[in-house]
Amino acid sequence: MAATILVLNGPNLNLLGEREPEIYGRETLRDIEAALQARAAELGVAIAVRQSNHEGELVDWIQEARGTASGIILNAGAYTHTSLAIADALRLCSLPVIEVHLSNVFRREPFRHRSFISPIARGVICGLGARGYLFALEALAPRPSRE
Ligand code: DQA
Repeated sequence: MAATILVLNGPNLNLLGEREPEIYGRETLRDIEAALQARAAELGVAIAVRQSNHEGELVDWIQEARGTASGIILNAGAYTHTSLAIADALRLCSLPVIEVHLSNVFRREPFRHRSFISPIARGVICGLGARGYLFALEALAPRPSRE
């Protein structure tokens, strides 16, 4: 089986569904994971979905991905706007990264307009809710070979 696509979620995303649903929607992280697993099975790719409220743990997982993953889908939550450590880890692991945000960060407060991750990311998806994760998976899944 091909290498795993790692789906990483940062702080407070464990509370999706109850956290400001008018901004982030009513789907829980479990719902998002289930939808991703279903689509991954259709695409024939393996995924691993993780969430942490701790910056260092996210850095550890990104470092570990060097040997085990073919790409990273990352919603770093508020660390998007603050974390040089996560950006450095992404840079050193040199895997393709798709940055995802449920909300359209550019319609929100100015401090959400800056991302340390976007300059490293292959692509950025924001404002499309939970479907953004599925679009990111499509983008990282290998294209079926035409025989
Ligand atoms: C978020 C946007 C961030 O600004 C915020 O801190 C989050 C969630 C999003 O998915 O829209 O925690 O990454």
